[in-house]
Amino acid sequence: MIKKLRKAVLPVAGLGTRFLPATKAMAKEMLPVVDKPLIQYAIDEARAAGIEQFCMITGRGKMALVEHFDVAYELEATLKLRGKETELAMLKDAQLSPGDIVTVRQQVPLGLGHAIWCARAFIGDDPFAILLPDDLILSQEPCTKQLAEAYYQTGGSVVAVTEVPQDQTNKYGILEIGADDGRLVEVTGLVEKPRPEDAPSNLSVIGRYVLLPDVIEHLARMERGAGNEVQLTDGMARMIGHTPFHGLRYEGQRFDCGDKVGFLEAQIAFALQRPEMARHVRNFLRKYQETD
Ligand code: UTP
Repeated sequence: MIKKLRKAVLPVAGLGTRFLPATKAMAKEMLPVVDKPLIQYAIDEARAAGIEQFCMITGRGKMALVEHFDVAYELEATLKLRGKETELAMLKDAQLSPGDIVTVRQQVPLGLGHAIWCARAFIGDDPFAILLPDDLILSQEPCTKQLAEAYYQTGGSVVAVTEVPQDQTNKYGILEIGADDGRLVEVTGLVEKPRPEDAPSNLSVIGRYVLLPDVIEHLARMERGAGNEVQLTDGMARMIGHTPFHGLRYEGQRFDCGDKVGFLEAQIAFALQRPEMARHVRNFLRKYQETD
């Protein structure tokens, strides 16, 4: 029986060193793209896929992330008093039902695999989605919804994948692939950050996953991988051959918002989606166009 996908884990305990000094006292997941913090894009995307329960893996200096999903009584009262109904509705819309969001502390950032293992009590025996909020995806259909559909179709784990330049495989988790129908790819192996000459393909995992709970027992071995971190890729690799495992070439454009240039590009792309600002943005962009 294929269980309904109801849970999502959002790891936000990384140090965000690529975004210093912005991330010295503030989580990178609170950085806004246009006017919404990255974490809220991730939660909204998961909700659009039917997910109801959320677990944020946090660390030191991440309290703003928790506050963001709390009720802001004073602010709401003031908005009401001033008749700012649109803003009030926006806040209410983002609010989750009491008990639907929990946080778990990853005391030491030992890697993404370790972060996910910290959510083991929340995950229990259920399938779950993982969204890395610093990967932001612009798409017709929310990426997690696309993955959820593929999960219901295959009954196994599904990860979102994209092609990366062959000389950059050492930055990503890379797939070894079997049968491929152009959209769904059977995964026969996974390697974290292989050198280009060792990479089994140029298909890379991005920060969206739907996994079966079995991954937890593999992560529990706490084996250190690339960068001496407990890698989620290594835990997932151990599942292959036991339960179905696929990559999904999702529809959409992904922005790496943990990277400064990727973050800037996301600002532009998302601003261009907003009718009230698209024309202004296009106009000012013209000023910066290279001229030969
Ligand atoms: P990154 O590889 O982007 O690491 O983590 P980072 O620490 O956030 O950023 P840089 O590379 O130092 O700039 C990918 C995701 O995994 C989470 C991060 O919060 C991010 O969402 N993560 C990573 C954890 O929650 N715990 C960890 O130990 C490592």
